[in-house]
Formats: sequence, structure tokens, C-alpha cells
Amino acid sequence: MKEWYEKIDAVERVSDLEAIRIGIFGKKGVLAAEFAKMKEAPNEQKAAIAKALNSHKSDLSVRIREKKELLQLHELEAAMQAEALDVTLYSTTSQSGSLHPVMETMDRIVEYFSAMNFAVHTGPMIEDDFHNFEALNLPKYHPARDMQDTFYFHDEMLLRTHTSPVQIRTMLNSKPPIRMIAPGAVFRRDYDLTHTPMFHQVEGLLVDEAGRVSFANLKFILEDFLHHMFGDVAVRFRPSFFPFTEPSAEVDISCIFCEGSGCRVCSKTGWLEVLGCGIVDANVFDAVGYKDVSGYAFGLGVERFAMLIHRIGDLRSLFEGDIRLLEQFR
Ligand code: DAH
Repeated sequence: MKEWYEKIDAVERVSDLEAIRIGIFGKKGVLAAEFAKMKEAPNEQKAAIAKALNSHKSDLSVRIREKKELLQLHELEAAMQAEALDVTLYSTTSQSGSLHPVMETMDRIVEYFSAMNFAVHTGPMIEDDFHNFEALNLPKYHPARDMQDTFYFHDEMLLRTHTSPVQIRTMLNSKPPIRMIAPGAVFRRDYDLTHTPMFHQVEGLLVDEAGRVSFANLKFILEDFLHHMFGDVAVRFRPSFFPFTEPSAEVDISCIFCEGSGCRVCSKTGWLEVLGCGIVDANVFDAVGYKDVSGYAFGLGVERFAMLIHRIGDLRSLFEGDIRLLEQFR
């Protein structure tokens, strides 16, 4: 029988072990043959032979079971080795997305003002005449309404033409001091190289006690903001007009393309207009019932910033959803 123990020890595959098991325990196996031979042995030896065979029987079956477990473990390990995946390998099939350049620019603007302690407010895109015009010192038939080519639903309701109405909503819903910005989509009937019917603005408003807010405060924060967005540029304030601010200014940066020497983008002026601002008009505070306060406001177009930062020539290309354009901003 000794040879069978050796065979079990030497076997290397589960399938070969099974052949050995049949060779021992099968109908024509060695145990069956040994038990058959026992019948011919002298009677007085039979008990001893049977005992020895039975002991082999149980020893061999234990040994086969243990060997089988061992071999299965080895085979499993070998299979896992062979099938192992290198999960650190780069995939060539998947592509990562990215923020749209307008949203990325908006995020940068919001980040700046958030860090300066301005709260972020939003308002509805479908507005009424009062919030979009009337309360902003733009009474009906005021000629300045023509500056904003409005989409009307009817006399009283419209798609907001700017984010300034969020100023009004915030003032009506809270008390001074106020320090807020309002990012969001706005709508105008306009379509050319630099205008689309939908675009984005960020409005800013700061209100505090009378006499506490000056043009110098406004100038400081806008200069700092523009340096944050465009780097080392010159900034100038030009007197202008907005119904909701008095005095008002438009703000220019030195042209980032020609550094002020004059080119096609800046129409040879060396300057690029980037935002509007001013000291909040007393009529606006009257409209929301604020007394003894002072404040400044500003508004800017996000697409204009994105186009300058990313040197995009045609604003309309930002909204055509062409993947080849968007892929450049990944
Ligand atoms: N609402 C103006 C526009 O859409 C932008 C603007 C200019 C907002 C001056 C202001 C401001 O708050 O003070 O053209």
C-alpha cells in the first residue's frame, strides 16, 4: 500500500488526484482487490488483515481530502495570478469632461467676491416690470429702457435683461448692511459677434449707513478684482450713465492683447471695457424704503470676461455646443 501514499504525495493536479482516488477506492481499486484477497487468507489472519486494510482505508481518504484542498488552493492562486488586472494602467477609452469656460469664469468671479465676504444671492429669470426696471429708477417710457432690448411676455412680465433686479429683491428681503453678488443668466434681443440672446452677468451691491460707502471703496475693490482676474493690467474709470447709480462709471482695463498700444480687439484704443458701476441712486433706495444709507453697485458680463481670458473671437461659438471647442478647455 505504501506506494499509494507516495503517489498521493507526489501528485500535482486535482484531476490526477481523482485518478488515484479511483485507483484506491474504485470498484476495481486496490482496496477492493486487497479485501478480495483476504478471503483466501487463513482464517486466523483475516481479522488482522481487515484491521490493517480498514486503517489504510481511513488514512488514505484523509490524505486524499487534505491533498485535494491543498491542490485546489494552489490552483486558485495560480488562476488569480494569471487573471490579475493592473488597475493602475491608463484607460484609453474614457475621457474626462470639464467646466464650460463661462461657468469656470463665473466660478472664479464668485470665488473672489465670496472671499471678500459678499453673500451670493439669486433671483428669478422671469421678472416683473417693477424689479427689472421701475425700482431701478427706470420708469415707464424712460429712454434708457431702450438700452436693454427686452423680451416681454406682456406689459408687466419679461425675461430679466440684467441681474440688477436681484439687488431690489435682496434689499426688500433683508436689512442693511448688505454685501452681496448675484450671478445668473439674463436675456436680450441681440445676436452678433459679441451678443447672444442669453448671457450671464454678476451683479454686486454693498449698502451700509449713510456716509460710510464711498466711490473710493468701490474703486478699491474693483481694481483688486480686475487684477485678480486679468493680472497686471492698468484700470481706468470713465464717467458714464446708469439710471440706478449716480455718479456712474464704466471701467476699462488696458488691452490684454496689445498691452495698450492699440489693436483690432480694442479698436485701436488700447482699452477694453469690462464693467459698469456707481454709487447707488437715491431713487433706488426710496423704491425699497431704505433711509439714511449709502451704497455702491456694479455689474459685469461673464461671457465678456471668458472671451478675453480665453481669447475667444466669436461669442456665439460658446453656445453652439461644439465638442471640439469645449475640449480645448479641459
Ligand atoms: N445692469 C447693467 C447692465 O446690465 C450693469 C450695471 C451697471 C449694473 C452699473 C450695476 C451698475 O449695478 O451699477 O448693463
